[in-house]
Amino acid sequence: MFFPFISFLFAVLLKNDYLCMKFCKILFFMRVFQNVADLGDLKQALSEAFEIKANRYKYQELGKNKTAMLIFFNNSLRTRLSTQKAAMNLGMNVIVLDVNQGAWKLETERGVIMEGDKSEHLLEAIPVMGSYCDIIGVRSFARFESRSDDYEEKILNQFIKYSGKPVFFMESATVHPLQAFADLITIEEYKNCTHVEPNPLFGGVAIDRVPNKRPKVVLSWAPHPKALPQAVPNSFAEWMNAADVDFVITHPEGYELDPKFAGNAQVEYDQMKAFEGADFIYAKNWSCPGVTRPNDYGKVLGDYHDYSAWTVGERQMAVTNKAFFMHCLPVRRNMIVTDDVIEAPTSLVIPEAANREISATVVLKRMLEAIK
Ligand code: CP
Repeated sequence: MFFPFISFLFAVLLKNDYLCMKFCKILFFMRVFQNVADLGDLKQALSEAFEIKANRYKYQELGKNKTAMLIFFNNSLRTRLSTQKAAMNLGMNVIVLDVNQGAWKLETERGVIMEGDKSEHLLEAIPVMGSYCDIIGVRSFARFESRSDDYEEKILNQFIKYSGKPVFFMESATVHPLQAFADLITIEEYKNCTHVEPNPLFGGVAIDRVPNKRPKVVLSWAPHPKALPQAVPNSFAEWMNAADVDFVITHPEGYELDPKFAGNAQVEYDQMKAFEGADFIYAKNWSCPGVTRPNDYGKVLGDYHDYSAWTVGERQMAVTNKAFFMHCLPVRRNMIVTDDVIEAPTSLVIPEAANREISATVVLKRMLEAIK
């Protein structure tokens, strides 16, 4: 950033409008989408989201002759499809690469003698991939080998450093900002909702509710047989702390999220108490973040069967303010949430997933504006 900053000052002194705009874009327009702060004013971002939702092809010309490359080190359904659709909404070409299916196996460490099964180094692969596109999206989950490698975003930062292109995070070791933005859009859409019709897929009866003036949003840990990353709860916490809501996090002891993401959120270890009067319940499993138990980073603490009372069911939902239920999907039924709760009229899992197209369209639009 030092060179563009000096160049920007130089362009101002020369009164060169073209150079001023060019370096201003490099400095101030979105080159990386990782955290809530990258979107700037949240109200403005939400307003753009609703503008795009009303007419998702409005900016078709913006992406003409521009290429988005989506690189997946891990599986995906929603992120893959919604981001491709978003790029198409903007008139972009899209290339999708599944690194583990058909590409050379990649070495990520410097100094390794490459005599094993990895044929290519990330340090060559990244600039090569960058040379074929204008914007890069990357999915690379936490590896749980080293907390510092994961929390320093070792893989994604190499893409930022060596691709030469704007990079957006499609779920990294520690964050999932496209999901959190879609979650925020969904909460904004439903926070004043007083009447919910039965779910067309599952039936049920219509529900009337009186929303709290300031919505109460609860992020609840739920059990899971495998060790899952903290990216979704981290980003959800970060975004809720920036939003106009009362935010509570509930989980068993040992699962404390990194303070960088949990911020000033109220932490309540009693799940039933946390759920009281809530307008939105966001369920998610995550493994030990290694905050209060550094040696257990990335582990499932104890036997998950012992935590079955944390599965979100009608017992917990009964103490809420007829709360909406949210989950990023994919979800394990009757492990994270019961059939009855996920099929209820108040379940938002499908609208939430649909909003992934909207959050991705806003982010790609911002990035296209930065490189125009
Ligand atoms: N919520 C989410 O990111 O879904 P996928 O893992 O299917 O992309």
